[in-house]
Amino acid sequence: MTQAVTLKPFTPRVFSGVQPTGNLHLGNYLGAIKRFVALQETHECIYCVVDMHAITVAQDPDELTRATREVTAAFIAAGIDPKKQIIFNQSQVAGHAELAWVFNCIARIGWLNRMTQFKEKAGKDRENASLGLYAYPTLMAADILLYRATAVPVGEDQKQHLELTRDIAQKFNFDFADRIRALGLESAEYFPQPEPLIAGPAPRVMSLRDGTKKMSKSDASEYSRLNLTDDADAIATKIRKAKTDPEPLPSEIDGLKGRPEAENLVTIYGALSNRTAEDILREYGGGQFSTFKQALVDLSVASLSPIGDEMRRLVADPASIDAILAEGSARARAIAEPVMREVRAILGFIQS
Ligand code: AMP
Ligand code: TRP
Repeated sequence: MTQAVTLKPFTPRVFSGVQPTGNLHLGNYLGAIKRFVALQETHECIYCVVDMHAITVAQDPDELTRATREVTAAFIAAGIDPKKQIIFNQSQVAGHAELAWVFNCIARIGWLNRMTQFKEKAGKDRENASLGLYAYPTLMAADILLYRATAVPVGEDQKQHLELTRDIAQKFNFDFADRIRALGLESAEYFPQPEPLIAGPAPRVMSLRDGTKKMSKSDASEYSRLNLTDDADAIATKIRKAKTDPEPLPSEIDGLKGRPEAENLVTIYGALSNRTAEDILREYGGGQFSTFKQALVDLSVASLSPIGDEMRRLVADPASIDAILAEGSARARAIAEPVMREVRAILGFIQS
C-alpha cells in the first residue's frame, strides 16, 4: 500500500507575461493588463515581459529594447505597483530557459503538434518557422511553473497553452513521483496545476475592421486596433471608421447575434465602463450607431489617454525603467533559484 501523503497547499501566486512586440492595444489591456492590476489587491503577482518569446520570430534589437521598456511602462501606467509586485524581463532569469529545456524533454511532439497558435503564426511555410516558435509553449510552461504559480490571467487565445502547461506539470509530477517523495520535498505534487483566469468582461477583443478576427499586434491595418499610446484624435478616427452594419443597435442582447462588429463595440464599452451589455443596450438601443460611437470615443479617450500619457512620461526616462526591471529580476531570481535546485535534484543532475 502506498503511504498517504499530506499535500501542503501551494502559496497562491499569479504569473503572467506579455510579449514586447509591436504596440500594446486595447485587447492586451482589457484581456490581460487591466486584470493584472485588479489581482494585485488579493495576490502576490509576478508580471513578466517575455523578451525570449519575442525572438521566436525575427526582431530588430533596438525595437525589442524599445518595446520591452514600453510594456514595462504600460504595466506601471495601468496601475501595477512595481514595489509590491514583481515586474521583470524574462531573459534576466536563466531558470526560464533552463526549465524550458527540461520541459522539452517532458512534453510530447504530439502535444505540440496540436497547438493552433503555432499553426497560425507559422502559416503556410511551416518548414521555415524557427524551432523556437514551435517550442514556444514549453517556454511558457516554464515561465509559469518556475515560480510554481497557481493562477494565470490571460486572454482567451492562450487557453490551449495553459492546458499544455497543466499537462506538462502533471507528467513531470507523475514521471518523478517516487523521486519527489524520496527527496521529501514539501509537496508530492511538485508542480501545481495552474488555473487559467480567462473570464472577464473582454477575454477576446475583436478587430475594429473585422469582428470575426481578434484584435492583434500583427494586423497590417492600424485601423484594426486602438493602441494604448494613441492620442485622442487617433482614437476618435479609428472608432468612427470602425466597421459596423447598417442596422441601428438593438435594445436586447439577442439582437447582437450574428452581428460581430456591433457586439464587439458593446463589449468594449462594457469592459471600459464596468457596465453590462444589457444596461448599455437599454441606453443606446434603437438609436443611431453614430451616437453610440461618439459615446465610445469619449469613454475610450477618458480611459486610455491617462495611461498613454503616463507611458510616454515613463519611457522618456529609460534608466528608471531599466532599474525597475533589474530590481524585479533580482527578486524573481530569488524565487526561481531554489525551485531550479530542486528540479535538478529531482532529475538527478549533480550540482555544486
Ligand atoms: P501578447 O501581446 O500576445 O503577448 O498578449 C498579451 C496578453 O494579451 C495575453 O494574455 C493575451 O491573451 C492578451 N490578448 C492579446 N490579444 C487579445 C485580444 N484581442 N483580446 C483579449 N486579450 C488579448
Ligand atoms: N504566450 C503569451 C502571449 O502570447 C505570453 C506569455 C508568455 C505568457 N509566457 C507566459 C502568458 C506565461 C502567461 C503566462 O500572450
